[in-house]
Amino acid sequence: MTIRVCVAGATGWVGRSLVPAIVAAADLALTGAVARRAQGTIGPGGVPISGTLGEALRAGADVLVDFTSPLVAKAHALTAIRAGVHVVIGTSGLTDRDLEEIDRAARERGVGAIAGANFAIAAVLLEHLALIAARHMTSWEVLDYAQADKPDAPSGTARQLAYRLAEVRQPEVARPVDQTLGAPAARGLTLHGVQVHSIRLPGQVIGAEVVFGSMDERLSIRYDGGSSAAPYIAGCLAAIRHVADRVGLRRGLADILSVDTPAAPGPERHTR
Ligand SMILES: NC(=O)c1ccc[n+]([C@@H]2O[C@H](COP(=O)([O-])OP(=O)(O)OC[C@H]3O[C@@H](n4cnc5c(N)ncnc54)[C@H](OP(=O)(O)O)[C@@H]3O)[C@@H](O)[C@H]2O)c1
Repeated sequence: MTIRVCVAGATGWVGRSLVPAIVAAADLALTGAVARRAQGTIGPGGVPISGTLGEALRAGADVLVDFTSPLVAKAHALTAIRAGVHVVIGTSGLTDRDLEEIDRAARERGVGAIAGANFAIAAVLLEHLALIAARHMTSWEVLDYAQADKPDAPSGTARQLAYRLAEVRQPEVARPVDQTLGAPAARGLTLHGVQVHSIRLPGQVIGAEVVFGSMDERLSIRYDGGSSAAPYIAGCLAAIRHVADRVGLRRGLADILSVDTPAAPGPERHTR
């Protein structure tokens, strides 16, 4: 069965790579595309670009993929869910409260949603390996790297790491942040009991690092993206193919990409 896909943010950095991949996939059909400045033109996937999601969904869609902006991604997700359309959210910057609201709406409507904070296999592996390390190390903090003009902080990748690490347990903290002498803000943002530090610099690419510490030893697990959107595409296609499997919101791609399956046939298996 062909899955009909609408892409919001079709003309953006990710959208420009994602649209041709959807068009090239035999089991997917691009039926809608959304972006404001190019509205009214025919996009790279050969479908008209709509200025609003409501207009784009009129052509019919099974899945909305959103790579737009944190200012509009939640509204897009709720619009799609109300229309009975499954949702894959690539956009970063949504808060836990936003995601809880999307989860509730998806459950009420009986559709699936995936918030893939980072679709790159290296980022999914970082999360997986960090969760193992958190079972054995006593304390950890998250470093969140991105280019200087990234509008949101912390990144979706860092939010997801803090959220998943807190499911393992709370890190030990020798001195509570609010008892820091000087400026407690220097200790970063406390998210789910984890300190998150966002670094925004020219020349920096998207990345994340979890720094673990235990008595007299330290472990660092770090992921770095590159200059192209290519690493996000395979994970996003997998999310499109699996979002309808389950009702409600899933955070992250670990189960979909089966990163904990020992008998991996090869590195390209995450393209399923
Ligand atoms: N999950 C992941 O793996 C992953 C990977 C990379 C990036 N991201 C996140 O994905 C988001 C998009 O990244 P990007 O680098 O592709 O951004 P980008 O290059 O700025 O592209 C944004 C796209 O969304 C459209 N857009 C923005 N606001 C809109 C609105 N209100 N209504 C309709 N369309 C709108 C833009 O077109 P117009 O401005 O013309 O409307 C453009 O097509 C960011 O939040 C980024 O952090 C996630």
